[in-house]
Amino acid sequence: MEDKKVIFSGIQPTGTFTLGNYIGAVRNWKPLQDEYNCIYCVVNMHAITVRQEPAKLRKNTLDAYALLMACGIDPEKSILFIQSHVKTHAELSWVLSCATQFGELSRMTQFKDKSKRHPDDINAGLFTYPVLMASDILAYNADLVPVGVDQKQHLELARNIAQRFNQRYGELFKIPDAYIPEVGAKVMSLQEPTKKMSKSDENPNACILILDDKDTIIRKFKRAVTDSESEICYREGKDGINNLMTIYSSVTGKNFDEITSEFAGKGYGDFKIAVGEAVADHLAPIREKFAEYSADKEYLKKCYTEGAEKALAYSQRIVSKAYRKVGFVDIK
Ligand code: TYM
Repeated sequence: MEDKKVIFSGIQPTGTFTLGNYIGAVRNWKPLQDEYNCIYCVVNMHAITVRQEPAKLRKNTLDAYALLMACGIDPEKSILFIQSHVKTHAELSWVLSCATQFGELSRMTQFKDKSKRHPDDINAGLFTYPVLMASDILAYNADLVPVGVDQKQHLELARNIAQRFNQRYGELFKIPDAYIPEVGAKVMSLQEPTKKMSKSDENPNACILILDDKDTIIRKFKRAVTDSESEICYREGKDGINNLMTIYSSVTGKNFDEITSEFAGKGYGDFKIAVGEAVADHLAPIREKFAEYSADKEYLKKCYTEGAEKALAYSQRIVSKAYRKVGFVDIK
């Protein structure tokens, strides 16, 4: 690979992606491919921190891989792979867990939230999840990590772990920076716009899935919660409208002033339909490409096999150095 900066990011295979995953992260991955060495991963090992049905996880993992390709991630340009195919992630994770404090992990808000949601399964993997995430990033010495704002705390921990390791054992890891979009870093629920849009929301109208059909998308936007005013402008306190404006801006490229002028004198009803249509039109080609890629199992297999080989070769160099630095005996 040429001497460009390295990008790493990952996404969990939870069925289809949400519009939040797409706007906050995945859509930004595509343009980065021309400027950087990009490494993208379906993080199925992270997914088992909450209970999964094995057959469903297998299908969701392959679907997520095909969906990333449908979103424009090109396995010829980027290294695109499935996490469990590349053993270095788990290997480094053990080493880094010994450089991570219990207290640090206890402060992770996602751990606290997920433990509340799954009180019957607060497993050790859920607790050490951020260490595996740090390993994903550090195994490739990534410079930049494009994520939504909800991953910022995990990324800060990865930076701290890298610094601590370097201090203890000598320079090895680069300290990665988050790459968070200015607009759309936190897409909110359509039903409770003070909460992040998430697939785990019980109300199906709260969340747009990127494979939803046009009618479903428009129906969900029509039901979006707004406020009792009538002005379409971005202002504190107008959480529902701010969210719709953010989404509309992300898929049309228009800024907030342009959106306000476009809808001057129009009502929320018209605006919601316009947002729904713009989103559905934007996502339509992704649905088509997804159908194509997911049907071609042989091609998918070729891509993820080659992706895993490249990812292993790349990360092995860095993880072997980490092994040597901590004092593990070489076998060769
Ligand atoms: P995950 O699978 O929950 O989400 C994937 C990406 O989508 C972003 N995102 C959002 N952005 C804006 N608005 C939202 N409502 C929204 N919901 C999700 C997330 O910030 C993320 O960028 N732990 C990670 C996956 C991971 C990872 C990594 C990421 C594992 N290893 C290494 C970067 C680098 C996660 O669960 O993301």
